[in-house]
Amino acid sequence: MFETKIIEATDDGMKEAQNEAVACLRRGELVALPTETVYGLAADAFNAEAVAKIFAAKERPEFDPLIVHIASYTDLKTVAEVPEDIADTVKKLANEFWPGPLTIILPKTPAVPDLVTSGLPTVAVRQSGHPIFRGINQALGRPIAAPSANRFGRISPTSASAVMKELGGRIPLIVDAGACGEGVESTIIRIEPREGKKPLFYLHRAGPITKEQLQPFGRVEKVKPGEKLQSPGQLDSHYAPLTPFRLLKSPEDFVPEEGKSYGLLSYKGEEGGEYVRMYDWDSVVSLSPGSGKLAEAATRLFFAMREMDEMGFDEIIAEPVSETGLGVAIMDRLRRASAR
Ligand code: TXA
Ligand code: MG
Repeated sequence: MFETKIIEATDDGMKEAQNEAVACLRRGELVALPTETVYGLAADAFNAEAVAKIFAAKERPEFDPLIVHIASYTDLKTVAEVPEDIADTVKKLANEFWPGPLTIILPKTPAVPDLVTSGLPTVAVRQSGHPIFRGINQALGRPIAAPSANRFGRISPTSASAVMKELGGRIPLIVDAGACGEGVESTIIRIEPREGKKPLFYLHRAGPITKEQLQPFGRVEKVKPGEKLQSPGQLDSHYAPLTPFRLLKSPEDFVPEEGKSYGLLSYKGEEGGEYVRMYDWDSVVSLSPGSGKLAEAATRLFFAMREMDEMGFDEIIAEPVSETGLGVAIMDRLRRASAR
């Protein structure tokens, strides 16, 4: 058991937070760190013993590989051996999207412990765009393995207090830098080259970098069924609140039971349409109360799911959002929260 400390990475405390986090990582301990997507549970990626602590703290099965974060593009070669036939594409993608929420699956170097990749010959790599994370990654001078800082199968945390609820007592330190900007985990792709044509990008997880943004660089494809097994974190049931959770396809899908309480996870809330009006909900929580935009909805998604989980409904009902741009990532998370 640890007495979990939260250290605020504010203007004054920035340096101190960074130093403490780096010292912890050097000792082979875990630290929860903010990224632009969700909070990550960080360990020195080259220290297998430290990485093993991630699996223990999260109760994560060891067949589920981790994402490795590098501080700069030049560090890529320390963790991945980029094949020549996709080197140009990787460079272009890095130029365009790194630092940022795009993770690329590449052949790994021997320096990456097998535990990080669950024995796979490939490693999932990204460069985080969060200034605090980047600062710590740079100061550590080594790549950082970091999955989302939640217990396995649960909702990813987008604030330090959410990390505390998930992992309090299990880790020594949480660096608090406020809410995450993107709100959903990075987009994950694997690249397959094609003779004389743009490469294929197999989409392992939809995320903040959308299909539309990737398309200028390659053709985005769904992952082949067999390949899905290589990405076991992509289980159908994931991101699950403790309260029963159901994503509707249409308003007719909802048939309330007498005496039960229902909360609606709505896209636009009271301003919104038929889902809000079709029933006398015990409560309506809106994903995008301000702008009515998908970006706001993504940022608030896990926060709203947690909030509703604590409200004590018999069931949480979610309305679908349009599956374009960021809506693809949002619907992916809602579907998997809804799967039991
Ligand atoms: O935004 C993010 O990606 C966050 C922040 C902390 O960076 N991290 C994150 O990690 O979401 P995690 O562990 O919750 O999700 C990583 C996913 C898992 O579904 C895992 O199966 C997949 O990446 N993955 C990792 N390595 C892989 C590999 N070599 N091949 C296929 N899938 C892989
Ligand atoms: Mg996760």
